[in-house]
Amino acid sequence: MLWVEKYRPKTIKDVVADKKVLEKVVTWAKNWEKGIVQKPLLFAGPPGTGKTSLALAIANTFGWEVVELNASDQRNWRIIYHIVGEGAFSETISDEGEFLSIRQGRLKLIILDEVDNIHKKEDAGGEGALIRLLKKKPRQPIILTANEPYNLSAELRNLCEMITFRRLDVRRVVAVLERICAQEGIRADRRALESIARNAGGDLRAAINDLQAIAEGKTEIRVEDVVTAKRTQETDVFKVMQKIFKTTSSAVYSEAMLLDESPDDFINWIDENLPLEYSGEDLLKGYLVLSRADIFLGRVRRRQFYRLWKYATYLMTAGVQQVKKEARRGFTRYRRPAIWQMLAASRQRREKMKTILAKIGRYSHLSKKKASTEMYFTIKFLLSKTEIPIAASVAAFYDFSEDDIKFITGDEERAKEIMKYVKEHRLHRVEDESFLTAFEMLEREEELATAAEAEEEKLIEVVSEEGDESEEETEEKVKRERREKRRKKKSKGKEVTLDFFS
Ligand SMILES: Nc1ncnc2c1ncn2[C@@H]1O[C@H](COP(=O)(O)OP(=O)(O)OP(=O)(O)O)[C@@H](O)[C@H]1O
Ligand SMILES: [Mg+2]
Repeated sequence: MLWVEKYRPKTIKDVVADKKVLEKVVTWAKNWEKGIVQKPLLFAGPPGTGKTSLALAIANTFGWEVVELNASDQRNWRIIYHIVGEGAFSETISDEGEFLSIRQGRLKLIILDEVDNIHKKEDAGGEGALIRLLKKKPRQPIILTANEPYNLSAELRNLCEMITFRRLDVRRVVAVLERICAQEGIRADRRALESIARNAGGDLRAAINDLQAIAEGKTEIRVEDVVTAKRTQETDVFKVMQKIFKTTSSAVYSEAMLLDESPDDFINWIDENLPLEYSGEDLLKGYLVLSRADIFLGRVRRRQFYRLWKYATYLMTAGVQQVKKEARRGFTRYRRPAIWQMLAASRQRREKMKTILAKIGRYSHLSKKKASTEMYFTIKFLLSKTEIPIAASVAAFYDFSEDDIKFITGDEERAKEIMKYVKEHRLHRVEDESFLTAFEMLEREEELATAAEAEEEKLIEVVSEEGDESEEETEEKVKRERREKRRKKKSKGKEVTLDFFS
């Protein structure tokens, strides 16, 4: 069992919180007990600081029923509205079916979790519906929780009384960890617990999870354990997978939380290796659980709703672990997720596309978007289907590299041919400084070469004067050929500037 659940505060006294907060909440609850309708409370603060715990502890302390609902799930919200609506306005009905006033009836505490993730615009189940609901002054106690209360509209906030939860300081976190260690019969070095507490940054849930992962199978925790635990477990995806697939150890969830892999990555590991470990019905169930985890992850991605990560992680660890009837024995060589290679390739493609569109955009004075929707396919056509000289002038105009052309046309040979033409004919953009400098350098080189050749010719002339007639003739031919070559070279080297398309 997860220690965070095992050691969830049972009554208000177990909740670590400021005295004022506790007093306020207790007064609120006592007023409800007296039958005085109270404003809903809004518990606001970072994860793992006891919001849900305090709400549950109140209900437990006063013997209230609890309806715990997640406000951010839109489909749920339609149901929520009904339940809350019913529970909130009508008088409680006793088991015998008679109406009781709230004073007589048992109070039902409605906990609406994560209201800061509720849809803003959606009418059914959105913030608007919640506001309408609260305006009717429900006759049942309601506690809303939120990590980011300022994501809520002022109107909604004003309908509630806000109670702020702060990150717990190291001293208080250590105190809780010490109590848990004592109950678990674990001797712990105080400095080790302090290290865990500091690491958790005021999130008691995280601290307890870390403690459980580190304490797994131990009766004593030393400072080194905390350090090495972080080091080894952070890298050891394989160990965690082994525990998931081959054991029933309850530490898998917390160990996975310690991994250096985000749930988004970790699910790929499980997905890749599940079929190596499970078969038949286990495999099917495993995939079902995984797909559910994936739904949570999708929601995190779409709505930046990071709180769902823990549910996703729970499903892909403990969830997958629990569905197996029998574990495969022996050693399994795990594989790296194959999808990563595919993703890396597609990332490279995206990057390439971006640079190409940037060039098209820059030289055609278009946004990247327009470059993509209005120009890209024209350019692709010109590069792949027209005569090489035309394609080459397009390529030069956009300053495409051979790699760019290969990417656009998907034809390596053609890319080479086009580039060869560009180079031979020195096609370039007018404003392309670097090309011009390179060109100047070539010119200079050529001049030097011509000078050297002239020298050489003179030398040959001197030598040939000493030779016979036929030799002189050959020399004359050689010279002519050289002159011809030079002429050709010059004309070929004539630069061509482009004002194509502009
Ligand atoms: N103030 C606290 N006092 C005692 N235990 C706490 C406190 N805060 C957190 N815990 C422990 O951490 C676990 C998680 O806390 P809880 O669910 O109350 O956090 P929360 O504030 O509701 O977080 P979230 O915003 O993520 O919902 C609890 O089960 C409990 O074990
Ligand atoms: Mg909570």
